[in-house]
This record gives sequence, C-alpha cells and structure tokens, in this order.
Amino acid sequence: MVQEKDWIKDLVVYQIYPRSFCDSNGDGIGDLPGISQKLDYLEELGINALWLSPVYRSPNADNGYDISGYREIMAEFGTMEDWERLRDGCHERGIRLIMDLVVNHSSDEHPWFVESRASKENGKNEYYIWRDPVMGKEPNNWASVFGGSAWEYEPRRGQYYFHYFGKKQPDLNWACRQLREEIFQMMDWWVEKGVDGFRVDAISYLDKPRDFPNSPLPPQPDGFAYPQGLAGRPGTHAYIREMNRRVFAPRNVLTVGEVSAPTVEELGNYVKTGRQEFDMAIPFVPPMVEIDTWSPGKLKRDIWERYRALKEEGWWANFFSNHDKPRQVSLYGDSGEYWEASAKLLAMFLHGLPGTPFVYQGEEIGMTNLGLPAIEDYNDPDTQNRYRQLVLSGMEPEAALARAQLESRDNARTPMQWDGSPKAGFTAGIPWLQVNPNTERINVEAQRQDRYSVYHCYQRLIALRKKSRALSRGDLAFLETGSEELIAWTRRAGEETLLFCFNFSRQGRRFPENLLKKAGEVLLSSYDREGGYGGANFRPYEAVVFRGKAGL
Ligand code: NOJ
Ligand code: CA
Repeated sequence: MVQEKDWIKDLVVYQIYPRSFCDSNGDGIGDLPGISQKLDYLEELGINALWLSPVYRSPNADNGYDISGYREIMAEFGTMEDWERLRDGCHERGIRLIMDLVVNHSSDEHPWFVESRASKENGKNEYYIWRDPVMGKEPNNWASVFGGSAWEYEPRRGQYYFHYFGKKQPDLNWACRQLREEIFQMMDWWVEKGVDGFRVDAISYLDKPRDFPNSPLPPQPDGFAYPQGLAGRPGTHAYIREMNRRVFAPRNVLTVGEVSAPTVEELGNYVKTGRQEFDMAIPFVPPMVEIDTWSPGKLKRDIWERYRALKEEGWWANFFSNHDKPRQVSLYGDSGEYWEASAKLLAMFLHGLPGTPFVYQGEEIGMTNLGLPAIEDYNDPDTQNRYRQLVLSGMEPEAALARAQLESRDNARTPMQWDGSPKAGFTAGIPWLQVNPNTERINVEAQRQDRYSVYHCYQRLIALRKKSRALSRGDLAFLETGSEELIAWTRRAGEETLLFCFNFSRQGRRFPENLLKKAGEVLLSSYDREGGYGGANFRPYEAVVFRGKAGL
C-alpha cells in the first residue's frame, strides 16, 4: 500500500528534554527561550523535526509526564508567548514541531481530578477509574510501574483510584465519552496553534478490563504484581483509531505512538498503514530497548524481523536513546578508550537503517552516563523504585546503587553539554541535576570546531540522507560476514547503492575480502581522525560507509 504521507520518510527527529537542554534565566532549569536560542545550532546539525518532551503545566512528579493543564505552559519553562516564538522559530527554519502528549493519565493536580476525588457526585466522576475496596483493601494485586500498588485510597469517596504509573498520575478513563471528547478537542486546539505532530505517551494502556482480575504474574519484592495483558487490548486500538479519525486523519500531522509491543506483530498493530493508527511507533521493547539481553547479533536479528514484517505496509522509528534510557555510548559502545569510534559507529548504524532516525539531545556529541554517588542524588521516581525493590529482594545497597548508576533514566537527563565550563554553558545558576564533569572534554563548542568530531559525523549522516534516496527510501539487505559482531548491509534504490560495514566490538577483526571488493568510494569512517578506512583489518568499533560499486 502506498504511504499517504510520504514526507515523514524525510524526517530526522531531534528529541529535547526541555528541563535539561538550555536555561535562559539562571534558575537552573532549562526552558523554552533557551531552546529558541539553540535553534540555529539545530538547523546547522540538519534536523528537520523537533520533539519536545512535555512542556505543559505540571507539578513535575515525573518531569512533565504528569500534566495539570493541557492548554498551559509549565511556569518554569516560560509562557505561551515563549512557546509561540519557539514554534515560529522552528517554522522559519523548516523544522516541524512535535509535541509530547500524555493522555493515558493526568496529574492528580489537574482540575478534573481535584473535582473527581472530592465526592462521588460530580461532573468529573467518570473521568478517572474508581473502584470500591475489596475486603477493605485494594481492588486487586496490580503493581504500579513506579512501585507499590496501582491503587490509591481516597477517603472522601471511600474508593480507590487506579494509577498505572506514580500515584500522582491517575489514569484517565477512556471509556468515558465526554473525557475522550475533551482530549480530542484539546488536540485539535494544539493543531490549530501550529503543532506539526504528536508523540503520544504510554498509548498501549488506554483500555482497562472492567473487572480488574488479579495478575497471575510473580509479585515484585514489595508484594504487587505487574498486570498481565494490559497493553494493546482491542479496546485500546479502537480508541487510537477514534483519535486518528477525529484528529489525525483530517490533517497532515506526524503521529508517533509510544507503545508497549513485545513482538513485531503487536508493533504492526499500531503502525501498519491499513490500521489507521500511527505513522510510526517508539516501542518500549526490542530491537532498540534492552539492557541485559542486548548483543549486536540480536540487534541485527530483531531489525531484520521488523523490516520484513513492516516494509510493505508500515513505517517505523529508529532510536538508541531517549530520556528513559541510559546513554547509548555507555550502554552499547565504550565510554573509555574507544569512546569516539563507538559513538560514531552507533551514529552510522542508526542513520544507515531504513526508518526515521531519532536523535536524543547530547547523543550527537557522544554524551555518556554519569553515575551519581548516592541514591538520594537521583531525581527519577523509576530509579528510586527499582533501587527499593532490589534492596527489598535482599541485594546489598551498594550493589543496588551500582545497578542504578548503570540503568537510571537520569543518565540521559544530565544537562546538555554546550561548553567546557563547570556548568557546561547550560545555566548561570545551580543546575537542577548534576552536570557531567566530562563536559570539559565532551561539549558542543569543542566539537563544532573539530572536523573529525562525533557532532560532524551526525551532521554528515543527516546531510547524506537528504541527498540519498538509497538512504531515505532504499531496500535493506544484510550481507553474510561469518561473525555476529561484524555487521554489513546494503541500502539500494534504483541505481544507487550504499554499503555499511561495522565491527561492533572492542577487538580488531578481519572483514571478509570478497565483501569489501564491492566497496567503492568511502563516504564516512569512524576512524576519519586516523586517516579513515585502511583495509580489511577493522579496528575496534570501526565503521565505514561506502558507495557501492556498480553491480553490487
Ligand atoms: C513514558 C515516558 O517516556 C516516561 O518518561 C514516563 O515516565 C512514562 N511514559 C509515564 O508517562
Ligand atoms: Ca530557566
């Protein structure tokens, strides 16, 4: 089936976590004027879409993923006029502005919830999910994602409300037609204001089972069990299709669902063209999101499986990083000796695949994890919960802290490193989260001046995509290399072929000669600083993009 919105295939999306991007007024918190100040930088990098993590009014129990005013801007981030200036600044530069939309839940401080919790008789009674106690306790054994029960008692109603995430994030009741209507009108309002698309948060959980059966899954150390089968219920897909009919279809906006889809079949349910749901999805599972079970070979198999399943009738997003994951160089590459080569390898890998590349702020300069010294230093509720559960399960606190240092979402949320000064050029005040001291070495200012930097590698890849139909539209074929860690593929469109070769390991490895016979001009190398491609003996994390020879 022909994709109706072909323009989405030309996008390179840059994700901003506004709190950590650029602080314009010295309060230590990134803001909208700060983002506007950096639009020239983003234009120079070459991206053409900006996804803003939530900027709506919020008490920040989950840094904006808890919205208390859907048509207002978070005071710390600025005003609606600041947002409008940012919108205009984007549009002047041909950058589309994509808003994060959190409608699985709101904040408990949203006026709807304030009204809903006050009594059983009110106009917002059905906007949230209320249940009577069962034998004086929670209605079932479900765990919330951020720890403890997914139910919280409200004495004024003598009832519990359901919250799949934190208890300050009560789930909205999508079964209520009036609520759905309010959400669609609010989305319309933003589109009218000039938004070019939405990244829709936690969209797989909209529909809940009426009877809330106990979960048969093994309980977490604190005694509650994650629900089984909550993601992707048929009712959820029906709500997404309704959203599509009402808001997306009549307009030319980009739609990205953040989905929980453990298989490619489930992923396809959200993004296959005939489904009329989303243009693309950010799945919270493989191929891109794994910490323990990750390997280059598995990554390749997962990518191939997804490609085969979706290439004829869908599209997808590619990402290694976002605000919910540790930094990609620390996770998949090497933050020490091979930092630069591995950061470039990851860039070439991501941008070499079919699908829309998503770059998360700081990735383009190879920012790394920052392990904080004590659990109290972490801001993220998810990190706090995981730590608690590990300690409850008997792990030594030091070991649990080491785990947090490796996995915490705060790794991705440390301030953007603009220059080599102690506050990284992020703020004149005290940053809300610690700056990584390696900003001395890893920063935008230094990398813009260095033609061999990670930053320039991203810039070249983005420029290449704009020129190359093989890159933006071409077919993918993996080539046999005889090793799981040597990965090679071609991208082909018409007469144009590009060849990608990666040594995804810390060891030098020999690439099969017959494969390299097909290599023409070298377009990019992760060892460009050392003179670039030097033959079949690939160095640690060596990656090369070649033009393919005719007949490849
Ligand atoms: C997914 C978001 O990306 C994450 O940051 C947030 O904590 C949850 N959804 C809840 O909104
Ligand atoms: Ca600020």
